[in-house]
Amino acid sequence: MPRAIISPSVLASDFGQLTAECKRMIKGGAEWLHMDVMDGHFVPNITMGAPILSCVSKSVPGIFMDCHMMVAEPEKWVNDIADAGGSLYTFHHEATSDPLSLIDAIHERKMKAGVAISPDTPSTAITDEVAEAADMLLVMTVYPGRGGQKFIDRCVPKVTELRARFPDKDIEVDGGVGPKTIGVCADAGSNVIVAGTAIFGAENPEQVIAMLKSTVND
Ligand code: DX5
Ligand code: ZN
Repeated sequence: MPRAIISPSVLASDFGQLTAECKRMIKGGAEWLHMDVMDGHFVPNITMGAPILSCVSKSVPGIFMDCHMMVAEPEKWVNDIADAGGSLYTFHHEATSDPLSLIDAIHERKMKAGVAISPDTPSTAITDEVAEAADMLLVMTVYPGRGGQKFIDRCVPKVTELRARFPDKDIEVDGGVGPKTIGVCADAGSNVIVAGTAIFGAENPEQVIAMLKSTVND
């Protein structure tokens, strides 16, 4: 299995101190920062877009921005997110009819490409061709749209299925992940762990990051 990566979701951070929050997480052991971009169409909420990501990448040199694009037209934002310093551009399978061309466009802008599936989308929706072209697969363990939701257990078998098909691929889980749910995620084979509330809500985020990481590595 590929190496463990912890990606705190800044959705649960103090947006007024966004760059400081990112630095705090990196100091605490986080490799990536998970940036939830919501457009008010694919999901009801609006969060942040390229202008804010651009400020973050300028203020936090070397940051790896794991951009989770919960947007209706993911083709539309590739250039803006690349210009803003995005490192990984994960689009939703449900939001595009041509994932292969989109992956090519993302790679052309020198970003890694991820494909996300929402709770009602089966793992088989991701074809071998798409998975092989992508750098990462994201299995949502809540319905996209907001932080702080309860982990949906029935999503876990999809991680197991994808790990069996793609032993070396990065597989991310996102939504309701924390010390109580990391065990099943790690057992199923996910290696990229997103956690918002569990990390930012903790008294000692560093400890939570270390705990999540060691569970995946076990
Ligand atoms: C949900 C977002 C998640 C969310 C995770 O739409 O994609 O990244 O912020 O937050 P927690 O860990 O609080 O469920
Ligand atoms: Zn997310």
